[in-house]
Amino acid sequence: MKRSGEKIAMLTAYDYSLARLVDGAGVDVILVGDSASNVMAGNDTTVPITLDHMIYHAQCVVNAVDRALVVVDMPFGSYQGDSKLALKSAIRIMKESGGHAVKIEGGNEIVDSVKRILTAGIPVMGHLGLTPQSIYKFGTYSVRAKEEDEAEKLLEDAIALQDAGCFSIVFEKIPADLAKRVSESLDIPTIGIGAGADCDGQVLVLHDMLGITKDFSPRFLRRYADVGESVDRAVKDYIGDVRKGDFPSEDESY
Ligand code: KIV
Repeated sequence: MKRSGEKIAMLTAYDYSLARLVDGAGVDVILVGDSASNVMAGNDTTVPITLDHMIYHAQCVVNAVDRALVVVDMPFGSYQGDSKLALKSAIRIMKESGGHAVKIEGGNEIVDSVKRILTAGIPVMGHLGLTPQSIYKFGTYSVRAKEEDEAEKLLEDAIALQDAGCFSIVFEKIPADLAKRVSESLDIPTIGIGAGADCDGQVLVLHDMLGITKDFSPRFLRRYADVGESVDRAVKDYIGDVRKGDFPSEDESY
């Protein structure tokens, strides 16, 4: 798709029912993101989600998918600083969930893990820029790589990940001109979130773009629906009908 200039559409999903809809609509890649920690479990960060949780969400998504590539996030603590642990974690994800690839956050410091995971024939997607698992190092979720030295480091990290064998890299919250420059320097496709229009594809968190989450409105987010509003209206109508004795009707009874 990169070679032919066709943009790649990626969305997250964490459960069977929504993954079925997302796959049926024709998305190219479904990411079982560790953002499940936020949108499914209500945690403030992605740090608490475990490998077992990620495998469970990935199983639910894999059960739903006929067409899309399913990429599964490796959670915090399942790969950092130990390439043997990284391989073990990636093998568990592939074996127990049936996902097609894994994604890990970081640059040069995770190259050994990328290489070791690849020895088992497991495709790896990288993730640079804002890497939410490092929130306690950054201190904020603000745009990354605005300064020249950080931008140069990101370019070097992207090349290191490509050379290590990553099949694609997510760029999260970096300046659009940097994402364009790095995307043009790489042979592998880049997928942006808050990284401008010149990445080779885009990703959004499903619950954010559907308007299910209401309290998260970064500039890069486009809301394509107001599912939160529809659910609110439907639930209130249901409560009203139950209270009035309007539900169930005779037709809805046996
Ligand atoms: O976990 C996630 O949803 C992600 C995307 C924001 C890329 O990593």
